[in-house]
Amino acid sequence: MMTKVLFFLMAPLAIWGHDLMPVPAKIALGQGRLRIDGNFRVELTGYREARLEEAAARLTENMSRSTGIPMRPGASPAALLVHCERASAAVQAAREDESYRLVVTPQQARLDAANPLGVLRGMETFLQMVDLDAGGFGVTAAEIADQPRFQWRGLMLDVARHWMPLDAVKRTLDGMAAVKLNVFHWHLSDNQGFRVESQRFPKLAGMGSDGHYFTQEQVREVIAYARGRGIRVIPEFDMPGHATAWFVGYPELASGPGPYTIEREWGVFDPAMDPTREETYKFLDTFIGEMAALFPDAYFHIGGDEVNGKQWDANPRIQEFKRAHGWTNKEKSNEELQAYFTRRVQTLVRKHGKKMIGWDEVLTPDLPRDVLVQSWRGQKSLAAAARQGVDGILSHGYYLDLMYSAADHYAADPLGDGASDLNEEQRQRILGGEAAIWSEYVTPELLDARVWPRMAAIAERLWSRQDVTDVADMYRRLDVVSRELEWLGLTHVSQYEKMLERLADGGPVAPVRTLAEVVEGVKEYAREEVLKYTSFTPLNRLVDTARPESQVARQFAVLVEARDVAKMREWLTRWRDNDARLAPVEASSELLADDAEISRELSAVAAAGLQALDYIQAGQHAPAEWTERQTALLEQAKKPKGVLLLSVEPPVRKLVELAK
Ligand code: ACM
Repeated sequence: MMTKVLFFLMAPLAIWGHDLMPVPAKIALGQGRLRIDGNFRVELTGYREARLEEAAARLTENMSRSTGIPMRPGASPAALLVHCERASAAVQAAREDESYRLVVTPQQARLDAANPLGVLRGMETFLQMVDLDAGGFGVTAAEIADQPRFQWRGLMLDVARHWMPLDAVKRTLDGMAAVKLNVFHWHLSDNQGFRVESQRFPKLAGMGSDGHYFTQEQVREVIAYARGRGIRVIPEFDMPGHATAWFVGYPELASGPGPYTIEREWGVFDPAMDPTREETYKFLDTFIGEMAALFPDAYFHIGGDEVNGKQWDANPRIQEFKRAHGWTNKEKSNEELQAYFTRRVQTLVRKHGKKMIGWDEVLTPDLPRDVLVQSWRGQKSLAAAARQGVDGILSHGYYLDLMYSAADHYAADPLGDGASDLNEEQRQRILGGEAAIWSEYVTPELLDARVWPRMAAIAERLWSRQDVTDVADMYRRLDVVSRELEWLGLTHVSQYEKMLERLADGGPVAPVRTLAEVVEGVKEYAREEVLKYTSFTPLNRLVDTARPESQVARQFAVLVEARDVAKMREWLTRWRDNDARLAPVEASSELLADDAEISRELSAVAAAGLQALDYIQAGQHAPAEWTERQTALLEQAKKPKGVLLLSVEPPVRKLVELAK
């Protein structure tokens, strides 16, 4: 068959020539195109279930929306013929076959998969293949044989710090499905909110959520929605720390006297569950039992991170408990106490039929093997877990809220350097990774812009072959996927536009955009050091509007590398002149009040860049005194201005150096 010949001829790492993200395991592009028009129709054969019918309808609808072509119902020959062998597991499991094979010819496309998960993945690939050329919409002929590198490809969403309503969750799932992610980790409780209804303990959400929580009906709706897209749903209830919201309704769970109110600030706080009282475990037994029945996934996340131990140290009874157990080393005794708590909770989780997941801190030398460790602190603990025979997933390097670039995330690999001295069996223990979006600085309107499109780069790291590492090509495809995601209902582009308009308050948007495009928020946890934020601090300023990663700065750096003087001049001139254009808008919009300094700095830095170009073009060396002054200016520009960074400083510095 043609199939075999094509694969035989195919180089293992062909020049891409496609826009797919994640890159499939094997792809060979052929000749000609399958046209997409109003007669597009999907036909299902083999094993059938409602999920597949719905996926076919959704594919057609998404195709129609992104192309603007109304699809004609009826009996036209199928453009996409889908064959599914058999059912997948009743509750989606970690180790399921997600492979598929997709063959597109100018006459028809054919998608084959062992089970519905492979069909879902293949349909997303097919949708991504639709593009426009001079002949109209179509799909270039190709043969794809694809399967994921890692079985665990997730996103953790924090709905506690800022509440994220049902529609935000659903569109997040839509985006996840588009890039073939398969685990939605739902961080449902923290100091600032308890976000799910408990019928056994109604005061958890009743008093701990400001009324912002998911009913059990809504939880079931999310689980069904996720299953329809081949995504597992894992709840996280963070304990024994990060648990203030539990204590508002049930102060007896805490290690200090209370009373407690919902936490309104960000950070690590003292309240922690009392690991010494049997009543704590009785409560957790009932609670975990209720939630284990609500959430069908085999795994159950108990958090376990960042216990500062202060309430434990301040409680004489807890001190006595530790002494009685022989945990007397001042440095270690709270860790030992937490390990005791973890073991007790793990017994309950197991009793209710689940495998426990915890953050790094739960990893102790005697941790039972039927636990999974999620590493936020680094790859080391993942390797340590693997050596102990404990499964792990990587989140360190995938924290989207830390505002790193897509390239930074792309470079993090669950089996990277930290895993290099593991043997094969130990490597198998590293199941994959999860991105995380903690929501201290994320509201529902900001969610998509904080997750997308960078999430797609992480999704590729987790799905595609380890040797798929071309950063420039990643960025090229990321731009394409970003536009596609917006067509699926994500709002990272459209919301950005709305926020720019809000900043401009009816005035000209262009100068606001020019500034917004070249600034970034400060990285990691620096924002909380600049300003005291609370749950109610407005997140509507330039730092919130600006993208985590300046595309313009990245593109400008490419122009510098290419010595594209004409285009550099265009940008630099616009930036130099922007401060004067922005001034009247700043004068009338309080939201821009903090931005005067960085706006002036942009103009000054751009002026330096233009002078550097003058020297370069004149073939002159810039005088040492000039270089010194510009270097001082750039040193100043490099420093954060409040919560903002000027992201074109590095490429302009390069120009100044070139002019020397
Ligand atoms: C964490 O970031 N504390 C899990």
